[in-house]
Amino acid sequence: MKLPALILVGALLASGVQALPARLSDKGLMVDGKPFLILGGEVGNSSVSDPKQMAPVFDKAKAIGLNTLLVPVEWDQIEPVEGRFDFTVTDALLAEARARDLKLVILWFGAWKNSMSTYAPAWVKTDQKRFTRARSAEGVAQDILTPFDEDLLMADVKAFSAFMAHLKQVDTSGVVIMVQIENEIGMLPSARDHSDLATKQFMVTRDTEERFQARSYARFVEAMAKAGKAQYDLPMYVNAALNRPGKLPGEYPSAGPLPHLFDIWKGVAPSVDMLSPDIYFPDFVERVKPYAFKGNPLFIPEAHYAGDAVASANAYYAIGELDAIGFSPFSIENLPDGDPLISAYALLDSLAPLINAQRGKETMRGLRAPINYDGVIDTTPQVFELGGCRFTAAFIDPWTARDKQNPNSHGAMIIQTGKDEFVVAGSGVTLTFADTGKERIGMEQVVEGTYENGVFVPGRWLNGDQTHQGRHLRLPPDTWGVQRLKLYKYN
Ligand code: DGJ
Repeated sequence: MKLPALILVGALLASGVQALPARLSDKGLMVDGKPFLILGGEVGNSSVSDPKQMAPVFDKAKAIGLNTLLVPVEWDQIEPVEGRFDFTVTDALLAEARARDLKLVILWFGAWKNSMSTYAPAWVKTDQKRFTRARSAEGVAQDILTPFDEDLLMADVKAFSAFMAHLKQVDTSGVVIMVQIENEIGMLPSARDHSDLATKQFMVTRDTEERFQARSYARFVEAMAKAGKAQYDLPMYVNAALNRPGKLPGEYPSAGPLPHLFDIWKGVAPSVDMLSPDIYFPDFVERVKPYAFKGNPLFIPEAHYAGDAVASANAYYAIGELDAIGFSPFSIENLPDGDPLISAYALLDSLAPLINAQRGKETMRGLRAPINYDGVIDTTPQVFELGGCRFTAAFIDPWTARDKQNPNSHGAMIIQTGKDEFVVAGSGVTLTFADTGKERIGMEQVVEGTYENGVFVPGRWLNGDQTHQGRHLRLPPDTWGVQRLKLYKYN
């Protein structure tokens, strides 16, 4: 950085103005001006609603090695009386995070949380004349406010804008890096709202019920994002409750940012940066793929419950294969002590500079055996090419008894770092190499090690029995490690 630029940044910081809010770019998520990989976890819904009880949650997050915590902020707590805002809880969240050098993603629990409207303040919930409820196809009133109500839109936008303005004012060091608008929006128990307000509009649409409802949610969220960003321009996303196979709209939370409705959500809500999947179903690989597309950086705000054995492998897959900007199991404060996620995250943290440098290039792959919706894993070895070499990844460890290993938790990433040179990180995956047709491939050298400040620090040289006499690179199960691999070709 040239001197005048340095002076400008210094002056901005000294004046208390936030110099560099987080933003999305083609290099991924930029935080403090540098690429940032979210090694996150989302707290349980009520775990940080009392400042007096927050500290242990933040301590746990730090102990696990997270760099980011996803925390709710509740409309009912922030605006208990209309127009009177109380940011006590927000300020406490910022202070706890700042004290531990953690970043926050704020979840705005406003008009909707998991379809329902339980986080709306009492003055909204109880004023049924002013705030219209959604109704089922049978006309039964729901504990769900309708997105067709302009009064609700104005009230939620006002509260969210006040929140974002407050954040901009108090968060000068940039603790908050992203904001989620609402939570798992989705209509139940019908595909669309049947209130009079909605039905009047439905009469003149040609859309299906679910698409009609999705348009209305997306329009609402667009207004929220626009207004919020006008106060403080942070990356914003909406999260989706995924649908069970074979279920019809109305049987699952309908009209949220689901793959079959991407056109509506992207078209109607361009101010929303990301549509993000909450993945609790076993078929992670199939569920996550549709959300990684151009114009939609992949972020997984809820990735199973903390402690689920699949978590680390899913993280390596999403980050290595799909360039995810972050990963976050739910209920993170309940992660069991000694959970493998801790070492899997520590390794990812050390690799982050290398990972971030691969974005947009064809130099990184993520590997895991896919699991189907019924929980059945397919451990068929996977063949792939990287840097002119053909690899086969096996997910059953050859040197551990089958009943002593859990392939659901095996995963890896491989990064090409030079000609015939790779870094392989993970657990329970074994790589072999095939000839290219013209030449045969052998292992020149395998070294295990660690990454420190973006540099590989070599440890043991692996050879002999550890590489099956030069036949494979093996990442042992039940531990997360990194090895540097150099191949060579011969005829
Ligand atoms: C998904 C929601 O988004 C979370 O807030 C939480 O309610 C979990 N489900 C609990 O299963």
